[in-house]
Amino acid sequence: MKNRWFKVALTIIFQHLTWTFGQPPQPVPPGSPPQSVFIDPKSFAVLGPNGPFRNSSFTQFFNPTSGKPPFIQIFDEAFLDILGPNPSIHEVASNPDFAFAHEAPVYVPDTDEVFFASNDGGALGNSDINHNNKVGKISMQAVEKALQGLKPGSGAAVNVSVTELDLPDTIQMTNGGTGPLGSSIVLITSGRGPLPPSIALVNPKAPHNVTVLLDNFFGRQFNSLNDIKIHPVTGDLFFTDPTYGFLNHFRPEPLMRNQVYRLDMAKRSVRVVATDFDKCNGIAFTPDGNTAYVTDTGANSGFLGNNQTAPATIYAFDVDPKSQAFFNRRIFAYTDTGIPDGVQVDAAGNVYAGCGDGVQVWSPEGTLLGKFFIETTSANMIFAGDGRLVIMAETKIFVAKIAAKEGKVSFP
Ligand SMILES: *[C@@H]1O[C@H](CO)[C@@H](O)[C@H](O)[C@H]1NC(C)=O
Ligand SMILES: *[C@@H]1O[C@H](CO)[C@@H](O)[C@H](O)[C@H]1NC(C)=O
Ligand SMILES: *[C@@H]1O[C@H](CO)[C@@H](O)[C@H](O)[C@H]1NC(C)=O
Ligand SMILES: *[C@@H]1O[C@H](CO)[C@@H](O)[C@H](O)[C@H]1NC(C)=O
Repeated sequence: MKNRWFKVALTIIFQHLTWTFGQPPQPVPPGSPPQSVFIDPKSFAVLGPNGPFRNSSFTQFFNPTSGKPPFIQIFDEAFLDILGPNPSIHEVASNPDFAFAHEAPVYVPDTDEVFFASNDGGALGNSDINHNNKVGKISMQAVEKALQGLKPGSGAAVNVSVTELDLPDTIQMTNGGTGPLGSSIVLITSGRGPLPPSIALVNPKAPHNVTVLLDNFFGRQFNSLNDIKIHPVTGDLFFTDPTYGFLNHFRPEPLMRNQVYRLDMAKRSVRVVATDFDKCNGIAFTPDGNTAYVTDTGANSGFLGNNQTAPATIYAFDVDPKSQAFFNRRIFAYTDTGIPDGVQVDAAGNVYAGCGDGVQVWSPEGTLLGKFFIETTSANMIFAGDGRLVIMAETKIFVAKIAAKEGKVSFP
């Protein structure tokens, strides 16, 4: 703990904080970081026989201080190290009619831009079996310029412009992305109708030329490839293949098991590294590459609806140094709201997942430290360098300025 003053303040606040559900908005307690509230787990451990229990993990939120989003919920003082003394969170782009910022966030330091893909086949995605989704980008320089004029701690919104990329037709229904790998970004696509899911390198600069690396498993099409990460030590690609293309009406019935694969970059060969999921989705590695996280979003079944007794779970695995297969699977976290979709790890090994109410952050041991609470779904987020977290929120993008440093996602 670098910040003794906050620690002392926190202790005092925890001792004196009393609240009940449904109370009017609370002022930020003196001594807490801007745009943040402390919510002591002790204060809601017992709600009582007539307590305001939530019945739906998808439509009811945990917002006991009735804070106005976007703001930061702190459940554990270790979150203060992640936030630093002066965190902020702002909406930086929005389009109420188009879910332009779903997933596939990739930061390219060279041009200071963040790339992302629109929702594929879901609400406000403007894409379906007959229409491809879109890959867009924002300039972080434009974001910084727009934020400069704002009053600190105001949480006011700005609206920077989004530039859509003109990509070749080999890219169909982009759902995940990572990198850069060398000078390219890596996109993973779900395919569309008979067009196969694939993994492709994309030039982040015009003319945005593409090299497809993989589009089948020994001649069989994948179901609908979803998310991807580069192993930080070997540079091999690890990716997930759930059935959301079918469940969102733009891919045929699945013909493969929902599982996690590795593409060996030297041999261009593919193998399975983890199985036994309901719907494997997000994937990430610790910076040393020894631990893998895979989210299981079984609670969301597209047109079959939500089932909150199915997985909304992040599993941790050890990565076998020889085979790189995942083993020693254990529960890492279960989200209280929605599903944990895309997942990222910071330089200190804290784990960030896009959930039903924003970005939730766990310590390396799996304690929920806090949330970037936006009261709507975030499917993924990316560090745009140290201290800048860019949060995808379907029709909006938020940027949080914090103290945490980015974990390694690029290679080499
Ligand atoms: C949850 O369900 C119970 C039983 O149907 C109901 O009494 C209660 O009002 C519901 N709570 C909320 C927050 O909707
Ligand atoms: C932000 O700008 C885009 C055009 O760049 C526009 O479509 C959108 O409606 C704007 N958002 C708001 C909240 O005005
Ligand atoms: C794009 O084209 C350039 C020039 O031919 C080439 O060097 C680069 O590798 C290509 N990138 C991709 C991702 O195909
Ligand atoms: C919900 O999920 C649970 C556990 O995965 C399963 O047992 C149950 O049948 C599902 N319910 C529905 C209505 O699909």
